[in-house]
Amino acid sequence: MLYVLDHPLAVHAITHLRDETTKPATFRTLAYQIGLLLAVEATRDLSLKDKAIQTPLEPHTGRVLAQQPLVVVPILRAGLGMVQPFLDIFPDVSVGYVGLERDHATAKASSYYCKLPPLTGCRVFVVDPMLATGGSAAQALGLVKQHGAVDPRLVCIVAAPEGVAEVERQHPGTHIHVAALDRELNSRKYILPGLGDFGDRLYGT
Ligand code: PRP
Ligand code: URA
Repeated sequence: MLYVLDHPLAVHAITHLRDETTKPATFRTLAYQIGLLLAVEATRDLSLKDKAIQTPLEPHTGRVLAQQPLVVVPILRAGLGMVQPFLDIFPDVSVGYVGLERDHATAKASSYYCKLPPLTGCRVFVVDPMLATGGSAAQALGLVKQHGAVDPRLVCIVAAPEGVAEVERQHPGTHIHVAALDRELNSRKYILPGLGDFGDRLYGT
């Protein structure tokens, strides 16, 4: 299930993110802004419960977030650029880490790090800005499921149709939230029009 962010601020920020003249400091700010919009959108279906409070004028029964623990799992390294927005709006969120790196020649992702808390009963958000072939995201979703996650969500900034199809093939029914759905992959498995290598642009490498 694919959800494409529909907000003029996201469209504006993505265009500057794509621009090759955008420097790492601005790139990080834009990634944060888009991440914030995505974090709000991806948590739209969180459960609420009643809470009795007293306003300055009268008693009132309001609604607050139910206590389901939230876990954000960035795919290192580029996914780190999407963690802070979740921390800022959900201060109690836990963070797990999955390190995956694509081989430059084959575009196949291999795992070099995995540190996840127990995920049973948690609402889990796997975050990675780029969904290209879908290999990295599919592996990460598999890992969080092995650690007990049920129905983990995938949150990306830019996706290629090929990546969406691969995640859907390996993990049918996954909710995928993206800020932009791009045209296609090139022969080196980079997204077109895309924005280049997100990790390199985020960290100026
Ligand atoms: C990038 C990106 C994703 C992956 C997407 O990471 O952040 O993790 O590629 O490609 P895929 O959908 O074809 O698997 P990369 O491997 O370049 O590592 P990095 O984050 O350390 O730069
Ligand atoms: N990873 C990136 O950073 N960019 C792409 O276009 C594809 C994979």
